[in-house]
Amino acid sequence: MTNVAPPLALLAEVTYRCPLQCPYCSNPLELERAKQELDTDTWLRVFDEAADLGVLQVHFSGGEPTARTDLDLLVAGASRFGLYTNLITSGVLLNEAKISALATAGLEHVQLSFQDAEAAGGDRIGGYKGGHEKKIQVAKLVRMAGLPLTLNMVVHRQNLDHLEDMIRLAVDLDAHRVEIAHVQYYGWGLTNRAALMPTRKQVETATAIVDRARERLKGVLVFDYVVPDYYARRPKSCMGGWGRRFLNINPAGKVMPCHAAETIPGLEFESVCDHSLSEIWTSSEAFRRFRGVEWMPEPCRSCDRREIDWGGCRCQALAVTGDAGNTDPACELSPNHHKMLQLAEVESDGPPPAFVYRRMGGAPRQKEAQPARDERL
Ligand code: SF4
Ligand code: FES
Repeated sequence: MTNVAPPLALLAEVTYRCPLQCPYCSNPLELERAKQELDTDTWLRVFDEAADLGVLQVHFSGGEPTARTDLDLLVAGASRFGLYTNLITSGVLLNEAKISALATAGLEHVQLSFQDAEAAGGDRIGGYKGGHEKKIQVAKLVRMAGLPLTLNMVVHRQNLDHLEDMIRLAVDLDAHRVEIAHVQYYGWGLTNRAALMPTRKQVETATAIVDRARERLKGVLVFDYVVPDYYARRPKSCMGGWGRRFLNINPAGKVMPCHAAETIPGLEFESVCDHSLSEIWTSSEAFRRFRGVEWMPEPCRSCDRREIDWGGCRCQALAVTGDAGNTDPACELSPNHHKMLQLAEVESDGPPPAFVYRRMGGAPRQKEAQPARDERL
């Protein structure tokens, strides 16, 4: 296949190490250890190849990307190749010197995650004692360094009732943008779905709050609101379509169309250690599998939205229907749509179970009774 348009952005998951343990982490349940991470030179070669391929943006992500001591070198390299650089971080490993080094290296934007509007909830959800307060300090340092700031708020059943306060926090911290995203249920989020699934009432209230705040804060704060699929009537255009706009490189160098693609059985992902990025983007079987509209079943195949939402999310189709090749069940035209709604209604009813916190090293075992972890990696 030769005529494939270039990707817009590269999500560089430079490490899976992370001091936080969020129960909705989109990383795989089996996390690759530090020794399997690509080294500095390989990442720099990948950024060079990405720029040649036509990529415009690099989003540094993880795990926690600032756990890598060479992050400023990676940012400087990406910047040198003309790529826009964005850091997606929990912030808890940052300080003034590190922020200044990243800004000098050419970092252009910071997305800082918050787990709740205040410390008790934030530290409990992130499984990291002292994290919320540290994030507030880091947000101020980011702004003092002159970097634009987006606050990322992942919302769910256990923090949605604090949404007004979360928006207030974004204004107080002089953020330019706030991304309010309902949990996506794959990776650890799928494991914790019953603990995180909001009620329909919560979702309706949250949507009304965002609508009002968007109006009230015009010119002050830009809102990016990701609605929850389980109560939706149409799916999101996940990743802008499989293999159309984004590529994701995991810490060990595997290249994937999205961060959850490894959950799909039968797909083999090629590595930047063995192939050029351009070769993988244009020819890899995994990218071609769901690219475009040829793979689509009915009702997508004859639907006039097929080149708008591209049939929704493959990983969600797998998680709910057991087959990644099905129409995303978030679509009300899907024969599986009722299953998804039922799941949401059943799981959001009654008290939430304890969180299973994200951890390195395999099958989830750690329950919420364990106290929030101290400040260490
Ligand atoms: Fe999108 Fe397929 Fe639903 Fe049409 S039938 S709206 S293409 S998911
Ligand atoms: Fe994989 Fe949506 S997360 S296609």
